[in-house]
Amino acid sequence: MILGISASGRKDGVTSEAVKGILEAAGLESEYITLAGKRIGGCIGCTLCASDNTCKVKDDWNTIGEKMLKADAIVFGAPNYFGRMNALGHACWERTFSFRHRELFNLAGKLGVIVSTDYEGNNFVKPEIEDFMLRNKMAIVEALQVQGYSQCYTCGYGQNCGVGNVVRKHGFLDEIKAEHLPPHFKEQPQSLFHAARIGKILGSMLKNR
Ligand SMILES: Cc1cc2nc3c(=O)[nH]c(=O)nc-3n(C[C@H](O)[C@H](O)[C@H](O)COP(=O)(O)O)c2cc1C
Repeated sequence: MILGISASGRKDGVTSEAVKGILEAAGLESEYITLAGKRIGGCIGCTLCASDNTCKVKDDWNTIGEKMLKADAIVFGAPNYFGRMNALGHACWERTFSFRHRELFNLAGKLGVIVSTDYEGNNFVKPEIEDFMLRNKMAIVEALQVQGYSQCYTCGYGQNCGVGNVVRKHGFLDEIKAEHLPPHFKEQPQSLFHAARIGKILGSMLKNR
């Protein structure tokens, strides 16, 4: 089973579409989860998980952690917020501390695919997800970087805000038109191609295991 997780706070954003695109291309049994709207706190360092590798903090992460344990592969996508992985994504991985005790690594050997989304294209999120996967002794198959969206296009003030991304890219505008908007996932030929390519590789690897 392939588990796809989108850590974005937006349930139908670019990260979500990219993760789903990879799952579809893999052509195997899969489950998709969005972290949007979920309550997931970070690890509190209580170490109550040390004896049984089970996190004792109770929130929406516990079910997700169980699904991570059952999966053969995890496609994890997260957006860049403030130059790093968003808090929901980070919290989700922090809690996998519970899987790493007494020389047991419960996610060891599971295949991992990274999806990183940002507006500026600097891809700061990929190495963060990669590091979490490697610390869990997962095997990374591929990584996909997708062009994100900027909130400045829909916040209501973007056309005239000197700080925002709309004015930085297009100058001051009377109105933000469709032609100004960043492309959604389905309007990014390269992202569509690589999602299909990566999904196909993941599917082949799992089928032949
Ligand atoms: C709080 C916040 C901070 C952000 N900071 C950055 C940033 O520093 N660099 C960047 O390239 N994009 C930044 N973004 C843009 C997101 O990475 C972009 O909107 C992405 O598409 C979000 O993923 P989603 O479409 O799956 O929701 C930020 C977005 C939010 C909401």
